[in-house]
Amino acid sequence: MKHSLLLWPLAISCCLMAGGCSRMPARHVTDEPFRSVYHHSPASNWMNDPNGMFYDANAGVWHLYYQHNPFGTTWGPMHWGHATSTDLLHWEEHPIVLAPDSLGTIFSGSCVIDEDNTAGFGEGAVIAIYTQSEVCGQHQSIAYSTDGGATFTKYAGNPVLMGDVPDFRDPKVMRDGDHWLMTLACGQEIRFYASDDLRQWTFLSAFGEGYGAHGGVWECPELIPFDGQWVLLVSINPGGLFGGSATQYFVGQWDGKTFTCMDEPTELKWLDYGKDNYSTFTFFGSPEGRVVSLGWMSNWQYANQLPTMAFRSQNTIARDLSLYKDDAGEYRLASVPSAESMACRGDKQTRLSDIAIVEIEWNGKQDALITVSNDKGEKVLMTLDAHHQTFSMDRTASGDCSFSHEFAANTTAPLFVAHDRHHVTLFIDHCSIEAFGTNGEWAMTNLVFPSEPYNRLTVEGGEATIYSINY
Ligand code: FRU
Repeated sequence: MKHSLLLWPLAISCCLMAGGCSRMPARHVTDEPFRSVYHHSPASNWMNDPNGMFYDANAGVWHLYYQHNPFGTTWGPMHWGHATSTDLLHWEEHPIVLAPDSLGTIFSGSCVIDEDNTAGFGEGAVIAIYTQSEVCGQHQSIAYSTDGGATFTKYAGNPVLMGDVPDFRDPKVMRDGDHWLMTLACGQEIRFYASDDLRQWTFLSAFGEGYGAHGGVWECPELIPFDGQWVLLVSINPGGLFGGSATQYFVGQWDGKTFTCMDEPTELKWLDYGKDNYSTFTFFGSPEGRVVSLGWMSNWQYANQLPTMAFRSQNTIARDLSLYKDDAGEYRLASVPSAESMACRGDKQTRLSDIAIVEIEWNGKQDALITVSNDKGEKVLMTLDAHHQTFSMDRTASGDCSFSHEFAANTTAPLFVAHDRHHVTLFIDHCSIEAFGTNGEWAMTNLVFPSEPYNRLTVEGGEATIYSINY
């Protein structure tokens, strides 16, 4: 998001004039050509980052909150919208849970389940920790839910952490030993804070100077443990790999106070090699120790101009994150479609018609060309380049690219690991193609807006199996 301090007072007064969230009309999911089928999108109006995601193990329910403007289809006064799912494919919309107040609009943040009542709002209370944005800056506030995340009460002592730099936001809170740990984006660095009760926060350390990409503001950070290694996700906008927004990450060690990056300072590691996967966060309390994530499937370069009607934006499919070592011995993040996402893979098809999952096998020693197209001649070209060991996706002729000169693009991922046979999985929905390499060693997420659904797939130099979507 571009920093637009001047719009915030206007946004807050609009919201207060509209009576906060209690008088919102019921929202119905509209049907329109670019409405995703098996991806989450808001019933209506604007959405950006996924927020506050947690898994309620007792109920078997995934909770997703999200940055939401209920007054229009462009970014505006931010609220937290809410949706739940039992399978990460079908989402039920619920009323907005957090609306702006005199402390500001409601920006991104996270939720934890306070099993031991450390904050004093009740055993098992769901606590939301979020940024409030107002003219004079950004601060962190908390709210609690004693009905499993359906409704929240704002803490009377807000804000709990005052900002000292203009961009001071997106708290992601986790349990670290016997206390809570907050990872927060502050300008172009990440700060870490500790707390016993989620109300009082103590500064621990900062990370970022001299490391990674610095072409824009750092946002939406998350620190994730993986068997002795730690990964710090940091979204950046602008300054992403292919322009605009993208998520970089750092692999290192966390000693309870300080993050020490093990990568070379100049090394850039990207979570996704497409243009449209931003502000990825993971679910608090994912089952079986898994690291289940969702990202916002858009890019601030053109998010406000996308050619949808009653709503704007959708999230990626759920992906499990893990660490692997590439052929150079470097740790990298793998993104694998979660088992829940794979569960929508239906029967084998003889041809592509509309949405699908496609599995492609490719002999890594020769080139392969995958084309997805429609009767209008609109097409997405995907190239597996054996010599350079890369996968590319060219959407310059994919359909409508007219809404922004930043949209037409050809994105490229390095393959990182040599295999005799490579595997590529494509998830095709009404306005997106997500590609995953062998074992999730690379991922590429790109939006597409064909004037008719793609109904043809050709693969030269590889073998493809097309599956219907079982939804
Ligand atoms: C990222 C972001 C966050 C902020 C939110 C505002 O996309 O800019 O940093 O909290 O969006 O909507």
